[in-house]
Amino acid sequence: MGLRNWYDATVLPRIIRLGCSSPEIAELRRQVVPLARGAVLEMGCGGGFNQPLYDSAQVTSMAGIDPNGALLAAAREKAAERGWQVDLREGVGEAIPFPDESFDTVVCTYTLCSVDDTARVLAEMRRVLKPGGRLLYLEHGKAPDPGPQRWQRRIEPVWKRMMGNCHLAREVGGAIARAGFTLKPVGQEYFKGAPRWAGWMEWGVAVKAG
Ligand SMILES: C[S@@+](CC[C@H](N)C(=O)[O-])C[C@H]1O[C@@H](n2cnc3c(N)ncnc32)[C@H](O)[C@@H]1O
Repeated sequence: MGLRNWYDATVLPRIIRLGCSSPEIAELRRQVVPLARGAVLEMGCGGGFNQPLYDSAQVTSMAGIDPNGALLAAAREKAAERGWQVDLREGVGEAIPFPDESFDTVVCTYTLCSVDDTARVLAEMRRVLKPGGRLLYLEHGKAPDPGPQRWQRRIEPVWKRMMGNCHLAREVGGAIARAGFTLKPVGQEYFKGAPRWAGWMEWGVAVKAG
């Protein structure tokens, strides 16, 4: 195993676990994840951090994809502990291994920052949603102010190498709207307790026209 693979398989999942499992982040998740309905696909489902927040009475089936084997295994384990029947597959959002119009809801939290091709992933999520289906998003991204933006540009090249390709300065709402969704933002703010270059958050619902 090369150094990169070792890092991604052992160190990175621990860092992601630490960063993604805080109660403060859970507060933001709680504003979008329980809105999931029907057949649900979670993009970047690794770690299973959203699982406690789904309204099981509203979800008829649960699928997910993630390229990180260690994080995917953790998500499968958590689902098994809940007694859920799930279809969690190793894969990437750039090529979602499900047919067109197969989901009512796609959930995407803290994942668009890490994919290789944001536009491609958004197009794929749109493809697998049924007409009228909803993308529930919660992402960090490009800060609205020039000061933090400057720091994002400086830090991003090193940050993304250490943090599993996590980009600091990607647009969130703008990119989702450009992919053909109708945006219904729920919130946006600098996350308290994080530096502003790392803490600009946007979350909401994006609808695929019916
Ligand atoms: C910061 S973690 C967030 C995990 C989870 N979505 C959450 O909200 O806690 C980023 C996740 O995106 C996954 N990821 C990276 N590249 C991806 C891609 N091209 N397609 C789908 N998921 C990807 C990573 O493996 C990781 O599980």
